[in-house]
Amino acid sequence: MQRLEEVTDPRVIDGRKIADRIEAEVKAEVERVKRKGVEPKLATILVGEHPPSKLYVKLKHWACRRVGIASEDHKYPRETPQDEIINLIHTLNERSDVNGILVQLPMPDHVDERDVMSAIAPEKDVDGFHPLNMGRMLIGREGFVPCTPEGIIRALEEYKVDVTGKNVVVVGHSNVVGKPISIMLINRNATVKTCHVYTKNLEEQTREAEILIVATGVKGLIKKEMVREGAIVFDVGITWIDGTVHGDVEFEEVLEKASLISPVPGGVGPLTIAVLMEHTLRAAKLQHNLL
Ligand code: GUN
Repeated sequence: MQRLEEVTDPRVIDGRKIADRIEAEVKAEVERVKRKGVEPKLATILVGEHPPSKLYVKLKHWACRRVGIASEDHKYPRETPQDEIINLIHTLNERSDVNGILVQLPMPDHVDERDVMSAIAPEKDVDGFHPLNMGRMLIGREGFVPCTPEGIIRALEEYKVDVTGKNVVVVGHSNVVGKPISIMLINRNATVKTCHVYTKNLEEQTREAEILIVATGVKGLIKKEMVREGAIVFDVGITWIDGTVHGDVEFEEVLEKASLISPVPGGVGPLTIAVLMEHTLRAAKLQHNLL
């Protein structure tokens, strides 16, 4: 019953609906490039047995199938040496039939994710984690940007939110979400404050936010009293407990104050995957001079 209320409330961002539209556009364009002899393909790499990561990779392959993008799945045991993963990436970089390479994070502790990301050819870096693409993003140049932050931007555009001059508070400073969304919103002239685990008096900060973006992985971190009346709230946190997924925001109580809120699940998650499909298509087009 609650789910039905959630999805029909106009304040609740329907990420699945926006993602479906993006995927429909990708599918049509994939058909067009296939008629020109280009078959877009994504290769994923998963190291270890982290159950949520296995699920996310599976969801990415399902999305590929929906939009007509070919995909291949490289799975390695947890203890695989870093060199072996980097060698695979070099092989995939060389293969002209592979357009996009995605290494699912987190990697096991003995692997330095930065070394792995740096090994991906920037033009195949559909996740936008290569230092060159990160640097391009920093200076506002075109490149691949991380998919989740781009998904948030797409949702803001969808709801016609002008971020210019808005007070944005980002909670979480990861390379995957917190840092890139902060930069992308600064590039759009928002006033951005990035908070994290060492921030003093988090509530004082979050209460100032006209747009609050939370990506910490701490279940239920954000309570009603931490949110400004009328705020736009993006919950990017995911915590799995006994097969159920939870966000970083106490959804029900924060909904009482928010003018717009992304739920977990069904908010930013589907957008991340739809954007990945767009990036893989764009990578294929770039590599075949179709852009
Ligand atoms: N782990 C959590 N989010 C992401 C993501 O967007 N891309 C990859 N590769 N791994 C992740």
